[in-house]
Amino acid sequence: MAVKFTGLTALALIALGSFVNGLLVPADKGPSKKLCADGVTRVSDLQCCSWAAIRDALIADVFEGVCGEAAHSTVRIAFHDAIGFSKTQNFGGGADGSMIAFGDIELAYAANAGIDDIVGDLQPFADAHGISYGDVIQFGSSVALSLCPGAPTVRTFVGRKNATAAAPDGTVPDPFNPVTDILARMGDAGFSADELVALLASHSIAAQDEIEPTIAGAPFDSTPDSFDPQVFLEVLLKPTVLPGGLGPGQGEVMSPLEGEFRLQSDALIARDSRTACTWQSFVTNQALMASRFSAAMGKLALLGQNTKNLVDCTEVIPASPPATARSATIPAGKTKADIEASCASALPALPTASGAPIVVAPVPPQ
Ligand code: HEM
Repeated sequence: MAVKFTGLTALALIALGSFVNGLLVPADKGPSKKLCADGVTRVSDLQCCSWAAIRDALIADVFEGVCGEAAHSTVRIAFHDAIGFSKTQNFGGGADGSMIAFGDIELAYAANAGIDDIVGDLQPFADAHGISYGDVIQFGSSVALSLCPGAPTVRTFVGRKNATAAAPDGTVPDPFNPVTDILARMGDAGFSADELVALLASHSIAAQDEIEPTIAGAPFDSTPDSFDPQVFLEVLLKPTVLPGGLGPGQGEVMSPLEGEFRLQSDALIARDSRTACTWQSFVTNQALMASRFSAAMGKLALLGQNTKNLVDCTEVIPASPPATARSATIPAGKTKADIEASCASALPALPTASGAPIVVAPVPPQ
C-alpha cells in the first residue's frame, strides 16, 4: 500500500533523508553519520568510505565528469553482465562480472558487440583499485547514472565475489528478436513485461555504434545526455528516414528524425499490446519513468547475488542533476498526428517545439 506523507511529516522526512526504492536513505550529514579517514566523507557504514574515493576516481578517470559514451556504455554492460542468469536452467551467475572475467568468451557473443571498449576502461580500473569486476560494473553503472540529469539513484550494493564461470551465449536479447522471445528471456531472468519497459528507460541515454557502423554514435533519442522521457515519445513517432542511408542494419528500422537511430525491438515493444500502455505511461511522466527504472535496475544489479553477503553503499552515490523536463516534447516539425499511439487510453496533451526540423547529433566518442 502506498503511504502518503503530508505537511510536517513530509518536512521531517526531508530533513532525515530521501527515499530510494521506497527506503529512507539518511541525509548526508546527521548524528548517525561517521567521518571517514579522508576527513570529508560522512557515512553510516564505514565500509563505504573507500567507495567514495572509487566513485570520485570513476567520475574523473572513466566518465570524464559527463553523461557521455563511457557512462552510457557502463549502464549497458550492467545489463549485459547481469542478464546472464536463468531461473529455470542451471546457468549464469548474474551480476558477477563474468563479462570481464570471462571476456575472452562473452565478448565474442554477437549481442555483446562493442562492449569490449568499456571493458578496456573498467577492467584496469577494477584491478588498480582492488575491487571485483561485478562491483566495478554495477557500482559504476549507478555512478554513471548520477551524471545524467533526471536519472534516479539506484540502490547500490558492493562486495560481489568474482565470477567462476562464463554466461552462455543467448542470454542478452537481440534487437531483431520478436517481442515474445524478448519477454520470455526477460521472464526467465525474473522480469515482467512492465519491468522490461522500465529498464528500457536506459535507452534515453543511449546510442549505437555496431549495427550501422557508418553512423557510429547515432542516438536513440534527441537528448542522449538526459534521462528524460523523450525516447518513449520519439520511438512512437511515424518512421520517415533511415539515417546513414546504406540500408537497415540487422535490428534497425526507420526513425522519425535525421541522425536518430531506432532499434526494431524498441519500435515493436512500444507498439505491442503487452507493453504499449506502460510505454505510453512514461511519455508524460518523467518521475514515474525514473522510479520504475530505479526499482528494476536495483533488482537487475542483484541477480545471482545474496544481499546478506553484500554491503549497501547507496549513500555514496550522488544525486543526479534535476530532470530537464517532466514530459516529452513533440520535436519541431512534427505534430500529434505523427504519434503512433498504441495504447487504448488517450495520450495526454504534449508540449510541441517550434522551429525548423532538427537533425540529431551523434554522441561523441570518449
Ligand atoms: C530488449 C532488450 C534490449 C535490446 C534488444 C537492446 C539492444 C541494444 C543495442 C543493439 C544497442 C546498441 C549497441 C551498439 O551498437 O553500440 C543498445 C545500446 C544501449 N543499451 Fe540496450 N538493449 C536492450 C535492453 C537494455 C537494457 C535493459 C539496458 C539497461 C538497463 C540497456 C542499456 C543500453 C544503453 C545504455 C545503451 C547505449 C550504449 C552506448 O551508447 O554506448 N539496454 N541496446
